[in-house]
Amino acid sequence: MNQIKLAPSILSADFSRLGEQVGEAIAAGAEYIHLDVMDGHFVPNITIGPLIVQALRPLAEQTGVVLDVHLMIANPDRYLADFAQAGADILTVHVETCPHLHRTVQVIRELGVKPGVTLNPATPLVTLEEILPDVDLVLIMSVNPGFGGQSYIPGSTDKIRRLRRMLDAIGSTADLEVDGGVKVQNVAEIVAAGANVLVAGSAIFGGSKTISENIADFRRVLRV
Ligand code: DX5
Ligand code: ZN
Repeated sequence: MNQIKLAPSILSADFSRLGEQVGEAIAAGAEYIHLDVMDGHFVPNITIGPLIVQALRPLAEQTGVVLDVHLMIANPDRYLADFAQAGADILTVHVETCPHLHRTVQVIRELGVKPGVTLNPATPLVTLEEILPDVDLVLIMSVNPGFGGQSYIPGSTDKIRRLRRMLDAIGSTADLEVDGGVKVQNVAEIVAAGANVLVAGSAIFGGSKTISENIADFRRVLRV
């Protein structure tokens, strides 16, 4: 099983102090920084583009943190090179937006970036069957994409278990990442089901505690 990693999602960060907040998350031990790209078409919200990846690239160079870019956009093929150029380390695309997913994954790898795939809560795992051997990360959406601060969809835990079995059956070393409503209260169950990368936005950048305290709470529960 891969090492357990935390991927704070900047969607819930204070964008007036983004560099400072991301720096604090990295200093507290985050291995990935999760960047939610939304275009107002595939999901109702509009967020960030390559500019923010580029802005955070120097921090990634200095610290080794991984820029984990989650593309919730209608036509990801059109922007892969821009995000690669900006400095994305992982580019994760939604199966629902990629009619030629095998080619999209190939292009991401040819750009020197790790390819990830993800699927909405109602999209069945069978849609990933053929592409699983070709990806470095699979992301389970445990909320409907578009916003931070939503509640974890309970059925996601069984979906994580079934995906873990699919990955083990082919001997894949891909990260199994979970995204949406991840909290200190449910993270142990999510890891026990087979996840090794945990995205958390509001649980890390929101609430009354500091970023460092929130990350320390996760580490205490995960004992990592
Ligand atoms: C939702 C995004 C998630 C979100 C997670 O569309 O993909 O990454 O930012 O936020 P929380 O952890 O607050 O559910
Ligand atoms: Zn995300």
